[in-house]
Order: sequence, then C-alpha cells, then structure tokens
Amino acid sequence: MPSSPKPRPRFHIDAGNPDAVADVAAPMVTVRPLIPNDLPSLKTVIDRVGLFPSDLLDGMVEGWLSGATPEEIWLTAEADGPVGLAYCAPERMTSGTWNVLLIAVDPDAQRRGVGEALMAHVEARLSAEGHRVLLVETSGLPAFEGARRFYGDRMGFDEEARIREFYDRGEDKVIFRKALSRA
Ligand SMILES: CC(C)(COP(=O)(O)OP(=O)(O)OC[C@H]1O[C@@H](n2cnc3c(N)ncnc32)[C@H](O)[C@@H]1OP(=O)(O)O)[C@@H](O)C(=O)NCCC(=O)NCCS
Repeated sequence: MPSSPKPRPRFHIDAGNPDAVADVAAPMVTVRPLIPNDLPSLKTVIDRVGLFPSDLLDGMVEGWLSGATPEEIWLTAEADGPVGLAYCAPERMTSGTWNVLLIAVDPDAQRRGVGEALMAHVEARLSAEGHRVLLVETSGLPAFEGARRFYGDRMGFDEEARIREFYDRGEDKVIFRKALSRA
C-alpha cells in the first residue's frame, strides 16, 4: 500500500527571545524588514502563488526602500532565503486602523507557520505602538478558502463584512477585522 507523504515540519520561529528553547530538529524562520536584495526571491514567491504580476513589486516597495513612506511595514520571512512577505499600511482618514495589503508565502513553505509568524510580527508591532484595529481583505472565491481559514481560524480575525461582487461579477470582497490590544 503506498504511504502518504510525510508532513513537512513547521518552522521554528526566531522571535528574538534568547530564553526560548529551540526545537533543533525544525528549520528556522526569521521575520525582518524587507531589503532590496530580497526582491528577486520575493518576486519568485509572488509568481509561484500567482497573486499579481510580480513586476509590480518594484513600484510597490519604492516608497519603503527610498524612505518616502516610512509609516509602511514591509516584512520578509527568511528561512534558507526569503520564503514570504507581508505589507501593512495605515488606513487613510482613520486613527489607529491598519490594513494588511499583501501577505504571501512560497507554496513549498506554506502551512508550516510562516504566515502566522509574519502576521504575529505585524500585530505585535502595531499593538506595541498603540494602534487599534487591523483589517485584511480577500476574495470570496473558493480559491481563497485557504486564505480565509488562515485569517479566521489560525489568526483569530472576525469576518466583519462582505461587499458583494466587489472584484468582479460573482467575486465578493471579504473583510476580516481584529482588535489590537496594547502589549
Ligand atoms: C494565506 C497564507 C499567507 C498563509 O500562510 P501559511 O504560512 O501557509 O500559514 P500558516 O502555516 O501560518 O497557517 C496555516 C493555517 O492557515 C490555514 N490555511 C492556510 N492555507 C490553507 C489552505 N490551503 N487550506 C486550508 N487552510 C489553510 C489553516 O488554518 C492552516 O492550519 P493547518 O495547516 O494546521 O490546517 C499562504 O497560504 C499564502 O501565501 N497563500 C497564497 C497567497 C494568498 O492567498 N494570500 C492572501 C491573499 S488575500
């Protein structure tokens, strides 16, 4: 009888805690600010998940890398090279509401804790800075069921609103919300 593939181990997350006991058998992932050298690998991640044309990434990160938009948060998750990224920005005309505008993890590294590490980093930083609300928006299509489960089941966001046919005919926008508490 053929055996089912062995699940790949979850990553050990480098959270910067020197007292943490590392699982030495687990590969390590570190979350840190995105730098220009990450871009080729991160474009490959974007291509592999197929969210949008990866050429757009250069323009998206321009303000962050030039220092023109220092309020933005751009993070890289690094294992044996960049395996994921997240981008978060404040919502205009709000006080303390932020939106995760992009999160993506390489398919080979998915369901091993990388997305959680990226999102936890965003939440911890915004909470520590006293911000109030974190939003994330995604598609209602079946192809995004995994992302919706990640936000709702894994990260504890509430499904707050649904704008019917927002992206296209038959494609709703689903908005998830989480209250941030001060660390
Ligand atoms: C959504 C995404 C960022 C999550 O990152 P990740 O590293 O895979 O997530 P984690 O390993 O931290 O958490 C995994 C949990 O999220 C949920 N989840 C993630 N992908 C899932 C899938 N394909 N099917 C079902 N649940 C899924 C589950 O609760 C899962 O826990 P489990 O593996 O124990 O069942 C990643 O899957 C991804 O890049 N997807 C493609 C791009 C995308 O859709 N981005 C969001 C666009 S709005």
